[in-house]
Amino acid sequence: MNKALRKAVIAGNWKMNKTRPEAKELIEAMKPLVADAGCEVVICVPYTNLETALSLTEGTNIKVGAENCHFEKSGAFTGEISADMLTEMGVEYVIIGHSERRQYFGETDETVNKRTKAALAAGLKPIVCVGELLWERECNITEEVVGRQIKLDFFDVSAEDMKKCVIAYEPVWAIGTGKTATTEQAEEVCAFIREKLAALYGKEVADAVSIQYGGSMNAGNAAELLAKENIDGGLIGGASLKAPDFATIVKAAG
Ligand code: 13P
Repeated sequence: MNKALRKAVIAGNWKMNKTRPEAKELIEAMKPLVADAGCEVVICVPYTNLETALSLTEGTNIKVGAENCHFEKSGAFTGEISADMLTEMGVEYVIIGHSERRQYFGETDETVNKRTKAALAAGLKPIVCVGELLWERECNITEEVVGRQIKLDFFDVSAEDMKKCVIAYEPVWAIGTGKTATTEQAEEVCAFIREKLAALYGKEVADAVSIQYGGSMNAGNAAELLAKENIDGGLIGGASLKAPDFATIVKAAG
């Protein structure tokens, strides 16, 4: 397995934060700090900030993503946003299956799979989130849980499309808790995910897919996590809301 075969992707997940003026302030502060990044820099922002983010990042190295999309193309789905609506705007990435969506909004592996396929069909790059609950880790079934998520979330996704996906390993117990997985724990699961991909799609695809770690990644611990063979980037919550912290993580990715 060769880390040089894939691009590091550092993505901010702003979650339900930032009004438009606040978003403008953060993006303006971030732009000069990440301008010489060696990795892919993405900010995934609330729908209401997409237009602001797209216009402020035009001509820069910052890519814009959404935090979710629906699986149907259009229709009577009040409150939802389709993948086509996002691509039409110029959005490139979309987070799918974040644990907060699974936990609070009833998302299942089946809907994550449908959303992933809809995103790919629309030309978006999905950042698909997987990860175990604390209870599942304590019961020693982390690999079972994550393996099942990989199998179901990417069911019926072709090898060609798989290469366009990013996988974010986010242990649910490490999200927003200040509790980071140890570098060994994170690397172990990311390596397992790559093995699983190799079994499903072959080594070439497994080598090409960027696997991020997410869960209290911050300016202090990013370099150590990102140095690991199978950790190709990060999905950053809290620390992505502070321009200097986010920039430090981007620098750590090379
Ligand atoms: P925190 O970095 O705030 O723990 O959030 C991680 C996350 O959920 C990113 O999607």
